[in-house]
Amino acid sequence: MASQKQAFILLSVLFFFNSLLFSGADDVYYEFILQEAEFTKLCSTKTVLTVNGSFPGTEIRVRRDDSVYVNVHNQGRFAVSIDWEGVEDSIDGANELIQPGRNFTYEIELDDEIGTLWWHARSAWARATVHGAFVILPAAGEEYPFPAPTSDLTIILGEWFRQELTEGVVPGQADAYTINGHLGETYGCNDTSYELQVDYQGLYLLRLINAVANETMVFSIAQHSITIVGRDASYARRSFSTSLTLAPGQTLDVLLSANQNVGQYYITARPSSGRLNTTGIIHYTTSTGPLI
Ligand SMILES: *[C@@H]1O[C@H](CO)[C@@H](O)[C@H](O)[C@H]1NC(C)=O
Ligand SMILES: *[C@@H]1O[C@H](CO)[C@@H](O)[C@H](O)[C@H]1NC(C)=O
Ligand SMILES: *[C@@H]1O[C@H](CO)[C@@H](O)[C@H](O)[C@H]1NC(C)=O
Ligand SMILES: *[C@@H]1O[C@H](CO)[C@@H](O)[C@H](O)[C@H]1NC(C)=O
Ligand SMILES: *[C@@H]1O[C@H](CO)[C@@H](O)[C@H](O)[C@H]1NC(C)=O
Repeated sequence: MASQKQAFILLSVLFFFNSLLFSGADDVYYEFILQEAEFTKLCSTKTVLTVNGSFPGTEIRVRRDDSVYVNVHNQGRFAVSIDWEGVEDSIDGANELIQPGRNFTYEIELDDEIGTLWWHARSAWARATVHGAFVILPAAGEEYPFPAPTSDLTIILGEWFRQELTEGVVPGQADAYTINGHLGETYGCNDTSYELQVDYQGLYLLRLINAVANETMVFSIAQHSITIVGRDASYARRSFSTSLTLAPGQTLDVLLSANQNVGQYYITARPSSGRLNTTGIIHYTTSTGPLI
């Protein structure tokens, strides 16, 4: 009995890995609920449009060649359409305007895209808070053309406006910048900081997205250099940098090696105009081994 059961388990495990190695493209489904939510930032509370109540919105995470179905339910007050930034073609419903109370399913067939893209509401007032990452991993069994990262993290650079944004409002210059929705400590408003935990000697694939509508953003991590490995959903020739410049809408995939002294380091994001800056923090943990 026991050995039959073990054989069965072994077979199941083999079948599982087999299907991982040889499965083709998948159909992947997401449900997005466009809804209003309240946030307190920059010393005041306001209502913004979100996907599923979060800012930034839900991350899509699929594999090369997958087909992605995103059913967007509009529970907001205004018609909205979603742009799939950088997806070359094969989007069914690219120009669909979704009226309040209605839903629409976008069908996105990926082809050669690999790495990081993003999605956002088309109109300027909504895109400030309705956006998120669109991560395309290698196909099953396919490897990265660079050392395999310990883990993979998305960093979205965004902006925040004091003004209420609703249909018809044209946002001007941002009042603050955000790292994954956090304003950090430079605005004097007790806003939270984005915090990134890294293991000493870990290798991290950071997926950076500049979701700021209108400004080139500069990103850096104190005392760390960064290796660019991908750009706008294709692999890039490796290059090293201590600060990264991202045009509006651009994405960069970079490797961060956590190889400095164990401690805390500032992450900084600022518009290239240098007007303001937003900080986050990297914390080293030492779970990978004892330190002397
Ligand atoms: C959004 O919320 C709906 C309703 O709660 C849920 O069914 C759906 O899975 C959520 N989508 C994501 C991507 O979290
Ligand atoms: C989504 O839209 C379809 C038609 O466009 C409609 O039949 C369906 O009831 C809608 N679903 C929800 C949950 O609103
Ligand atoms: C773009 O930025 C400039 C200044 O940096 C600002 O004057 C303009 O209103 C912005 N445009 C939009 C559409 O946000
Ligand atoms: C700042 O935020 C912390 C954590 O959310 C909270 O405990 C504290 O009361 C806040 N302080 C002020 C002055 O708002
Ligand atoms: C970041 O902003 C703060 C507050 O405005 C300012 O004091 C600081 O000098 C800025 N840092 C950099 C590197 O620009």
